[in-house]
Amino acid sequence: MFLLRRTVGHGRQLAPTVRAMSSKGPLVDLTVDNDGVAIMTLQRPPVNSLNLELLKEISSSLDEVAKNKSKGMILTSSSPTVFSAGLDIMEMYKPDMKRAEEFWTTLQDVWFKLFGSNFATAAAINGHAPAGGCLLSMSCEYRAMVGGKFTIGLNETALGIVAPKWFMDTMCQTISVREAEYALTTARMFTVDEALKVGLIDEIASDKSDAINKCKGFLKKFDRIPPLARSLTKQKIRDAPIKNLQKNRQADVQEFLGFLKNPKVQQSLEMYIQALKQKAAK
Ligand SMILES: CC(C)(COP(=O)(O)OP(=O)(O)OC[C@H]1O[C@@H](n2cnc3c(N)ncnc32)[C@H](O)[C@@H]1OP(=O)(O)O)[C@@H](O)C(=O)NCCC(=O)NCCS
Repeated sequence: MFLLRRTVGHGRQLAPTVRAMSSKGPLVDLTVDNDGVAIMTLQRPPVNSLNLELLKEISSSLDEVAKNKSKGMILTSSSPTVFSAGLDIMEMYKPDMKRAEEFWTTLQDVWFKLFGSNFATAAAINGHAPAGGCLLSMSCEYRAMVGGKFTIGLNETALGIVAPKWFMDTMCQTISVREAEYALTTARMFTVDEALKVGLIDEIASDKSDAINKCKGFLKKFDRIPPLARSLTKQKIRDAPIKNLQKNRQADVQEFLGFLKNPKVQQSLEMYIQALKQKAAK
């Protein structure tokens, strides 16, 4: 189920709109505040790993934000320590190939809708953001991350998998190509301070509400900018990676499915899952 809570006017609550969805519970909470800013909160415990159901809900929530003509959107997490652990590894380990295809197509949809959105976007990163978590936040236009022991980055090579070109493009739109190559090849996970230094994040926040306020500060800048000029500028700057994936969408799906069929990739995933479980058991 997908829940849209809206607050309008002077704090007056609208009755919740509840829509039937394929998943069992609301994995995404979407609220619109008095300033017309949509807050999208990922809430799939324990670590917001992106499985098919969560991706579907993010996708419909992005449609909802676009339809409601919100002033902007802030993406955040209900977990106090994890923004998102990235792609759900169990979607890739010994997968059902039909589901794997739908999983990857839905991830592409989410990226098109988020990276290419007309509305302004910001991420309040209130915890770890590895891999897909980093991708989601980089797809936004602004990032405020809570300081401390959290890390952010694209670590796919550490799992024996290759980040697709559009993940790489998204990183190259955020930090320099040189930094992106170094980070991608070494599976670099940036500390919050390191992320700020290279521009992977824009600000360090003291806690989640400070991160949201900082994102709101960014969105507020658009009060003075004509919306059409803003959105066309964003689209032009993001045009090349979007066109590239549109052109190669099917090939990208086949490449992903090909990776999953590779025994070496399956072996790496198995070892990684075991390492995660051992770490969690300590
Ligand atoms: C995000 C992270 C830093 C959080 O650390 P943490 O708060 O200590 O949480 P844990 O590592 O104990 O994970 C909690 C549970 O989520 C599972 N989990 C973590 N990341 C997951 C993922 N990406 N997919 C599926 N399950 C995942 C763990 O196996 C563990 O499961 P268990 O409770 O059944 O043992 C850590 O889980 C992590 O690094 N995850 C892997 C991220 C990653 O490499 N993603 C790449 C995917 S391509």
